[in-house]
Amino acid sequence: MLAIAGGVGAAPLLPLARSDVVMTFLIGARTEQELLFVDQLDECTDLQIATDDGSMGILGFVPALIDEINLGSYDHIAVCGPEVMMRAVLAKVTEIGIETRTEFSLHRYMKCGVGVCGSCCIDPAGLRVCRDGPVFSGELLHKSEFGHYHRDASGRKISI
Ligand code: FES
Repeated sequence: MLAIAGGVGAAPLLPLARSDVVMTFLIGARTEQELLFVDQLDECTDLQIATDDGSMGILGFVPALIDEINLGSYDHIAVCGPEVMMRAVLAKVTEIGIETRTEFSLHRYMKCGVGVCGSCCIDPAGLRVCRDGPVFSGELLHKSEFGHYHRDASGRKISI
């Protein structure tokens, strides 16, 4: 399995890494100080790092690390982080036709948390992050507004 995390997205993927199912872990953050669980992840995975300012690992964003590995060799890919980053990952896996092997853990603004208000919806399918997720396959998210829009407290679409 390949795990890809940006910022605090490393936290929900840490238990996977500790369970010995993750071979390679790609992690990124703005700076070295904002990287989470580096020592723990380095102990149990092949850890590769990117930082926006180059203070640790390569200079750049997490998706740039993907270009350094054979993405198609992984049977399963778990992704968690900022939606823009995840959208870039989805574009790369879709390009080589392996989006069915991917799972993305989403966070969206939530009002009700029980599937009624629509504030966490991803159109056009109307997927509710609170009720139907928060983990979705790349196959479901492909061709959706994922990575392009989210909703504010009033339900208005905001460009990401
Ligand atoms: S938070 Fe209301 S539908 Fe998800």
